[in-house]
Amino acid sequence: MQAFDGKVAVVTGAASGMGYAFAERFAEEGMRVVLSDVEEPALNKAVADLRQRELEVTGVVADVSKSDQVQALADATLDAYGGVHVLCNNAGVAGDLDFVRDRDTPLWEQSADLWDWTFGINVFGVLYGIRTFLPIMLKQDEPGHVVNTASMAGLAAGSTAGIYGATKHSVVRISESLFFQLNERGAKVHASVLCPGIINTRIFSSGRNRPNNLWGDGEQPSPKEIERRIAEGDAHFAHGLPPAQVAEQVLGAIREEQFWILTPDVPLDRIRSRTDHIIAGTNPPPPQPLVRP
Ligand SMILES: NC(=O)c1ccc[n+]([C@@H]2O[C@H](COP(=O)([O-])OP(=O)(O)OC[C@H]3O[C@@H](n4cnc5c(N)ncnc54)[C@H](O)[C@@H]3O)[C@@H](O)[C@H]2O)c1
Repeated sequence: MQAFDGKVAVVTGAASGMGYAFAERFAEEGMRVVLSDVEEPALNKAVADLRQRELEVTGVVADVSKSDQVQALADATLDAYGGVHVLCNNAGVAGDLDFVRDRDTPLWEQSADLWDWTFGINVFGVLYGIRTFLPIMLKQDEPGHVVNTASMAGLAAGSTAGIYGATKHSVVRISESLFFQLNERGAKVHASVLCPGIINTRIFSSGRNRPNNLWGDGEQPSPKEIERRIAEGDAHFAHGLPPAQVAEQVLGAIREEQFWILTPDVPLDRIRSRTDHIIAGTNPPPPQPLVRP
């Protein structure tokens, strides 16, 4: 996709972090952008900030883990701007990496609610995005692009992030199929998968948006403790790459129809080593934490 001016982008998880940076960058390019998020106050502020700069943006509250809300997002997009050319399925939560809960619990002790919450957003959110928007984009028969946000956790493995990593491996695999299927059909819509390393966002306090009914028995800390852990989570990746740098990379990848988007800090040796062990049939070496403190 070469021409951006006047085209329409939809970004989920756009109230914060990378989603906000994508929306901002697309709007600076002259696109009309729908920012969507589940966190309404943060979304309202994000939209107001961009509008103040006279950028053409609209905010739509939607929970990507609910197919009817994603459908409502598509309807609102068509009402506002009459089409959609770029879709970023970006909303995500840290699941078992989230600071708002105990991060050392092994997989077999994790609550089904934690699995539901993490898969609901990170995997089903992407599924609902492509199922809802792709038919619209294909019918338009105009150049378009879908960017799914996975993670380096979707390319490598470690002892931590068993649930989060499983969701991100899923996003990589879904995106690969999408890439092949669109190409096989000669579609004008293309696909990319974004695998960031460590980016300075609010991902580690994503429990701030976890619904009360998706906490396992005895799992939910007191409101005061949640507040403390949110601050801890927010500080955790302050050393990460700036989201604006990722936004620039994403824009370039859409232009170049580049499928794999890995940020420069992704440890390629971890990906190579995993593949080497698979091919050699040797056991994985002792794990390093996937996310280095
Ligand atoms: N920050 C990193 O280092 C990193 C690394 C790899 C991948 N990622 C991925 O990047 C994506 C963006 O996250 P971020 O790092 O910018 O974090 P972030 O927390 O700053 O932004 C994520 C946004 O998603 C929204 N969200 C959460 N649940 C939602 C739901 N049910 N429906 C709609 N929106 C919802 C949040 O409110 C938030 O605004 C996520 O998919 C995350 O897994 C982040």
